[in-house]
Amino acid sequence: MAKYRIALMPGDGIGNDVMDAAQIVLDRINLDAELVNADIGWEFWRAEGEPLPERTMDILKGCNCSLFAAITSKPKEEAEAELVPELQGKELVYRSPIVRLRQAFDLYVNLRPCKAFKGSPLNFRDGIDMVVFRENTQGLYAGVEFHPLPADVRSVLEENSPGMAAFEGVPSEDIALSTRIFTREGCQRIVRHAFEYAKQFGYPTVTLVEKPNVIRETSGLMVREARKIADEYPGIEMWETNVDAMVMWMVKNPQDYGVMVSSNMFGDIISDLAAQLVGGLGFAASGNIGDDFAVFEPTHGSAPKYAGKYVANPTAMLLATKLMLDWLGETETAKALQQAIADVIAEGQVRTYDLGGDSGTLDVARAVAAKL
Ligand code: NAI
Ligand code: MG
Repeated sequence: MAKYRIALMPGDGIGNDVMDAAQIVLDRINLDAELVNADIGWEFWRAEGEPLPERTMDILKGCNCSLFAAITSKPKEEAEAELVPELQGKELVYRSPIVRLRQAFDLYVNLRPCKAFKGSPLNFRDGIDMVVFRENTQGLYAGVEFHPLPADVRSVLEENSPGMAAFEGVPSEDIALSTRIFTREGCQRIVRHAFEYAKQFGYPTVTLVEKPNVIRETSGLMVREARKIADEYPGIEMWETNVDAMVMWMVKNPQDYGVMVSSNMFGDIISDLAAQLVGGLGFAASGNIGDDFAVFEPTHGSAPKYAGKYVANPTAMLLATKLMLDWLGETETAKALQQAIADVIAEGQVRTYDLGGDSGTLDVARAVAAKL
């Protein structure tokens, strides 16, 4: 029996192209793993009304982790129109598979390293090495939302919060409410992961990015819990920043920051900014990590216009593979892969179109594999 079982979910469009690239590298490193393909994406929505079929969930439950590439998703009307005729009019609802995976496996950490590779013409500045930890299951994206505002919810709010006075007289059908729920444990576990990562990889600081001066209860809870955890890591300094100021500093002095930690929506925003500072979609990888399962992915989508053309930059997918190796504990192999990717970028001989080259997706993968 192989040491690991890993589900590969290529998905749609360039997801297939970059997954082929990952396979070239996985073959080369000879990881002792059984690789199992699993269905996900638009094709399965159209044919089955389910972009994340139950059989895929069953495969995932039998795996250590998964590599996911990219899927297509479309707005409600188009989603309905593209279903096979037999499934139309059945009120099937498209729900984001990746959000569902995060919920089903409690993948509460979203890890997004953003490193400026030497020699990349897309770097905003050299020397950037940020690692964003975004809470992945709570906060504004937890889906506890109302419109119109139900009468019982409204009366409880009015009885309990003086802030509701500002909305007196506004009809409930004209009020939309999205909640921002944090739990103490939710705050603790994301902050702890950030500190552990800083310790493991030698980052001197962890920057907490919230807004406790205004969002006093949720951001406040996060800050209070973070301070307690920071006390357990005497060698690592915790910096506290407000998210609005932080985005300015990230552009002004991006080299000053290392590990950063934030709640769901703020983390989403700062991680996209951080990714763009180091080359954007072709370079942005993330890990969705829980206590005993994880899904690693490039953050780009299916880029339909390049589907099957093998021109997409596979770097993000290969960096996702590197994150997976780290998570599996294959630290030396992960390091070697990171170095091979860095060398190929620095040499500048094999580059996809986004870096000004004309090499294909698989050329880059082969060049990386050749260095391993
Ligand atoms: P996208 O990320 O697919 O592509 C936007 C543009 O970025 C592309 O046209 C291309 O110019 C560039 N790009 C993306 N990945 C690249 C790569 N690896 N190398 C070089 N250039 C790259 O975003 P878009 O066009 O907004 O969405 C297309 C589809 O993907 C939609 O159906 C959307 O819903 C879905 N999507 C899926 C995601 C996922 O699977 N996690 C994330 C984002 C979008
Ligand atoms: Mg995002």
